[in-house]
Amino acid sequence: MEAKPTLLINRSFINLLEIEEEAQKVLPRMIFDYYSSGSESRSTLVANLKAFAQFKLTPRVLRNVSNINMATEILGISSSFPVMVAPMAMQRMAHPDGEVASAQACKRAGIPFILSTMSNSSIEEVASSGHPSLLFQLYVIRNREVVAGWVKRAQTLGFRALVITVDAPYLGRREADERNRFCMPSHLRLKILESLYVVTQNAAVLEQNKKSLDNSKGSGLSALFRSELDSTLDWDIIPWLRTVTSLPIILKGVMSPLDAQRAMSCGVNAIVVSNHGGRQLDHAPTSLDVLPAVLEAVQGRIPVIVDGGIRRGTDVLKALALGASAVLLGRPVLYGLALDGEHGVARVLNILKQEFKLAMALTGCSKLSDISPDLIFNPKLTSHL
Ligand SMILES: Cc1cc2nc3c(=O)[nH]c(=O)nc-3n(C[C@H](O)[C@H](O)[C@H](O)COP(=O)(O)O)c2cc1C
Repeated sequence: MEAKPTLLINRSFINLLEIEEEAQKVLPRMIFDYYSSGSESRSTLVANLKAFAQFKLTPRVLRNVSNINMATEILGISSSFPVMVAPMAMQRMAHPDGEVASAQACKRAGIPFILSTMSNSSIEEVASSGHPSLLFQLYVIRNREVVAGWVKRAQTLGFRALVITVDAPYLGRREADERNRFCMPSHLRLKILESLYVVTQNAAVLEQNKKSLDNSKGSGLSALFRSELDSTLDWDIIPWLRTVTSLPIILKGVMSPLDAQRAMSCGVNAIVVSNHGGRQLDHAPTSLDVLPAVLEAVQGRIPVIVDGGIRRGTDVLKALALGASAVLLGRPVLYGLALDGEHGVARVLNILKQEFKLAMALTGCSKLSDISPDLIFNPKLTSHL
């Protein structure tokens, strides 16, 4: 059931889209569908991929771009270019080394890695990569004692920030997973979530949830979410988390300027504008659709990160030109992982980084602060010159 890693080393995939095509050939259908799927009609998923193409970039010339500095820092977490790897569940379905390999590749590339609550690797295993820029993504489950335990462990092990995912009180309906009766291969474990059952010593719940993931009438993951995730979650979670940790709090899944304002008034340190890669509310707008209004609401007071559909260096540049501080990269990382573990992820990150560097050079930017809204081609302005 697991992907057979093939060696990517001697094969030179030119871009992230080719890596996806190749990963589709090596991953079992059920797993590729789970990674690639979107919710319901997949309209948001498709829109995410088209969103960046709507913007054109203006080349700028004669600006000495012999030295390009792409490095940045967000909430004190440094990155060699303005990209972080998004939290993504169950990475050992792609490769036996799963999240540990992804974290190692991020360490090599000098970019932050966000570990999902739904990980097949434990917080300790990922921390042992020695990566200095790890973040922990939190799905808030009903048992707050367990949530507090995860957060404290992550902080003790050197994780730098918490990323609270707020767009998933229930799992979006991914029809491919229902059709495939998606289930996690039985030799894998959800090592972080499992600690719930150790604390509650509730063998019956463990058994029931294992069954949900092992097989069910529809998607096993959806059943697990229904049984564990706290759909009563509201803004009180932020002050509660402040009593548990001193780590910076990043809210992921904010799509409304009103929610962005509320997040700031609750003292959230950064937000991720995200529709969860088109996997939650179908017909949600894209991150780029709502970014201007969110930036207007935020007024530069906290960093705004975006994700969804980043596949090219020019996409990263466009997001920054439109005002984002950084982007999260999702699925291409899983595809690189499926092809060649840590090396595959490193290849994905390196391709994106080189593309971004070239895009900066061709738009006349030698440092990130040179990337400004006037790089986005605006036909009205041009015609007035
Ligand atoms: C297979 C898969 C699993 C995901 N798991 C999580 C998760 O556990 N927590 C979370 O906050 N987001 C999760 N996401 C959403 C990503 O963090 C991110 O928002 C999205 O993938 C970005 O879009 P992209 O894949 O087009 O780059 C997942 C996405 C995918 C594709």
